[in-house]
Amino acid sequence: PTIYAITPTYSRLVQKAELLRLSQTFLHVKNFHWIVVEDSVTKTRLVGDLLTQSGLKFTHLNVETSSDYKLKQNDPSWLKPRGVEQRNLGLQWLRENRELSEEGVVYFADDDNTYSLQLFEEMRFTHQVSVWPVGLVGGLRFERPLVEKGKVVGFYTAWKPNRPFPMDMAGFAIALQLLLANREAKFDLLVERGYLESSLLQSLVSIEELEPKADNCSKILVWHTRTEKPKMKQEELLQKQGLGSDLSIEV
Ligand code: UGA
Ligand code: MN
Repeated sequence: PTIYAITPTYSRLVQKAELLRLSQTFLHVKNFHWIVVEDSVTKTRLVGDLLTQSGLKFTHLNVETSSDYKLKQNDPSWLKPRGVEQRNLGLQWLRENRELSEEGVVYFADDDNTYSLQLFEEMRFTHQVSVWPVGLVGGLRFERPLVEKGKVVGFYTAWKPNRPFPMDMAGFAIALQLLLANREAKFDLLVERGYLESSLLQSLVSIEELEPKADNCSKILVWHTRTEKPKMKQEELLQKQGLGSDLSIEV
């Protein structure tokens, strides 16, 4: 089966570094197709060049988050859901370009997380929806599905534990066939904070059907890392004096 990773991404100082790191992880994954969806009005040259030069099989898409749902410069990052319309466009692309007969698995790989190569081999054989722990998330060392006799019976999580699927985006993968058979299933922009993952999964599976991976969900193979926003104090000072750095040099 092919692994399709859908990555929403947006323009910011660390974007190239994030995407390069991700691409170099993915180069080690066999049978891999990267669907990169820019949160922008048009596809940028920075992302286009990076994808072309990556050596990966890829699809480059874009859709700008509608303004009502877009984070403003000084909004706290949790105010609005992020990457929703981009992931939905990735799902739409798969539905328009892939056949039910094709074997595949779909994973939502945010551009800032840290992924072990082993994770991809764990998810590759997913019948419906497979699940595993995510490190450094939800104010905990990790969150994870709780497994008894090979079945998911609940979740170790502290934040809003009554969510239908109290899991981070990085903690599950979905069989391509299941997504092609349920053509209406998508992420809901309007749900309360924390309910994004549930909004998709609810229409696809029940808890009992989840397929636990990573040694019955006892191994951490993905980390919800977040990259610090670089300070540009000196750059701004120099810019005011007309001595800003050469903008033709891409960072
Ligand atoms: C957490 C979850 O890990 C995300 O999967 C979930 O989308 C998010 O919360 C949410 O509740 O919406 P967090 O680390 O806070 O993630 O979010 P980011 O990593 O900042 O954003 C998730 C993805 O969306 C990233 O791939 C990012 O590049 C992309 N994004 C972010 C956009 O496409 N547009 C934006 O304006 C912001
Ligand atoms: Mn993130």
